[in-house]
Amino acid sequence: MTKPFRILALESSCDETAAAVVEDGRRILSNVIFSQIDLHALYGGVVPEIASRAHVEACSRVIDLALQEAGLPMKEIDALAVTYGPGLVGALLIGVSCMKGLSYAAHKPLVAVNHIEGHISANFLTHPELTPPFVCLVVSGGHSHLVRVPDYGVYELLGQTYDDAAGEAFDKAARVLGLPYPGGPRMDVLAEEGDPHYLPLPTPHTPGRYDYSFSGMKTAFINAVHQATQKGEQLKKADLAASFRYAVCRALTDKAILAASETGAKQLAMAGGVSANKLLRRMMSEEAGKLGIPLYMPEIGLCTDNAAMIGSAAYYRFLKGEVAQLTLNAVPALRLAMKRGDPV
Ligand code: KG4
Ligand code: ZN
Repeated sequence: MTKPFRILALESSCDETAAAVVEDGRRILSNVIFSQIDLHALYGGVVPEIASRAHVEACSRVIDLALQEAGLPMKEIDALAVTYGPGLVGALLIGVSCMKGLSYAAHKPLVAVNHIEGHISANFLTHPELTPPFVCLVVSGGHSHLVRVPDYGVYELLGQTYDDAAGEAFDKAARVLGLPYPGGPRMDVLAEEGDPHYLPLPTPHTPGRYDYSFSGMKTAFINAVHQATQKGEQLKKADLAASFRYAVCRALTDKAILAASETGAKQLAMAGGVSANKLLRRMMSEEAGKLGIPLYMPEIGLCTDNAAMIGSAAYYRFLKGEVAQLTLNAVPALRLAMKRGDPV
């Protein structure tokens, strides 16, 4: 039996400082997440300077905890991994500097990981049987992408949002309903009690067949809420949340299924914070079932930001011989694929 390969990964691209130990890209030995949500909730969104400072304070603590939880000393770790983009430049720099320092001091190879690739790889942790090729719907606070994954570490962009990301639209809609940041999960809970057909919202039309747009439905929603408030009407928050959730999930599901069907995909996956959405999980399962292909989604705790997903992605990069130099820098606008159809 070959010795397991263990990666210690760090994620600090936004408002979570997370560290994890992952074995052979598939098994989580530890997964520690320090969320900064309480620090940012006061301001209604992530404040970059506060995020950077909190990452500095939390980095070494989450790394120690991840090793402790895995029951492993540093010498049992085979490689290190870190998110180097996309994300907030200050936040990324803290993680990248921390792991470059550790790589130098502990004489361990360092693997640089794209955050979005990490989200996609969360599926490998939940589903041992999943291997490429598959089509993946990536929906987070900053991204709404449809991606074809022909092999580990190879991504072809099928479509993306023209404007807001799905998570961002959820958070903005939640804000006008007076829900605290981040509003997406709260909209989801509230929507379970409401009527999804209470407020019909416009269906987005995009030139690209597999592209998305959420700003039209977001603006229509915000206008409807403002008008009702100006008329002194009592807001039917559950019905409004349900209507918005339905419009977003319908659009996400329809294009994902269209792309899977037209590209002849044999497997469909989803990833990113919004893939925790209850209605999206139900709709996607139902439609993938009708298409006759399996749908893979990360377990709820691995949909939002974590370091285990970075450890999984890093394993497959390492197998391809990709090791970062100590000149590695943060790349805040890092892309997963450069343009439609292009592998990167
Ligand atoms: O992937 P993630 O943790 O961070 C980014 O990479 O952006 O995603 C966070 C986003 C936030 O916009 C949050 O509101 C949204 O995911 N989100 C949800 C749900 N859980 C998280 N949106 C809708 N329904 C949910 N259950
Ligand atoms: Zn994320």
